[in-house]
Amino acid sequence: MRTQIAAANWKMNLTFQQGEKLLDDILAAKIKLKDHQKTIFAVPYPYLTMTRSEVTDEKNYYAAGQNCHHKRSGAFTGEVSVEMLHSLKINYCIVGHSERREHFAETNSMVAEKVNLCLGNFISPIFCCGEALPVREAETQNEFVAQQLKESLFHLTADQIRNVVIAYEPIWAIGTGKTATTEQAQEMHAHLRSIIAVQYSVAVANQVPILYGGSVKANNARELFSCPDVDGGLVGGASLVAADFIEIIRSLK
Ligand code: PGA
Repeated sequence: MRTQIAAANWKMNLTFQQGEKLLDDILAAKIKLKDHQKTIFAVPYPYLTMTRSEVTDEKNYYAAGQNCHHKRSGAFTGEVSVEMLHSLKINYCIVGHSERREHFAETNSMVAEKVNLCLGNFISPIFCCGEALPVREAETQNEFVAQQLKESLFHLTADQIRNVVIAYEPIWAIGTGKTATTEQAQEMHAHLRSIIAVQYSVAVANQVPILYGGSVKANNARELFSCPDVDGGLVGGASLVAADFIEIIRSLK
């Protein structure tokens, strides 16, 4: 079975102490993940070491960066490089989140550079794509996300793209309480898988996990994750509440 992932994206929330308590509460549920299931906590940079040591004895639990810089190193005050994440033994990093694209003017080509650096440092990028409301209303979302994949991922070899996790996050559903319907999610995920199959092969397309993100909650996760092409979720708001995220982990196929 394809890898199924519950990924928490804390964004810029929680103090260190609150984050530590949240992790303790979630791990106290002692959810034993199956071989094909993973739980990933994308936490603020200063909490990475703490998070990694909290999950270190837990099978298939990981810490992740929420972002990384698109250059290798240098005079970029305040930024964090992929090599730094690797030196902290971090295995995953979100790249191209819509909030980074919107507030920090990240482009598809910058995201492509981040993807390359991550893969070169043994970090699996969690690559975010997704359309804003006007694109959805114009019914051009399929072309829009295809272009994002083309410009940020399709230079990779088949072996490389197998190490990428894709997160489809329709921007109109992020933090709005407005979730895509299971039909909308499944339709887009199947579309993403089909364009990966055309670019690479059906075998490769069937290996890449595609997560859904955008107002995933404890009460809708199971239904969303039950879609054949939805391999888990990237969860913002609901990942900040232990009971909710525990339920979301339990909803993995
Ligand atoms: P949300 O955020 O679950 O709060 O909608 C998802 C995300 O931005 O990754």
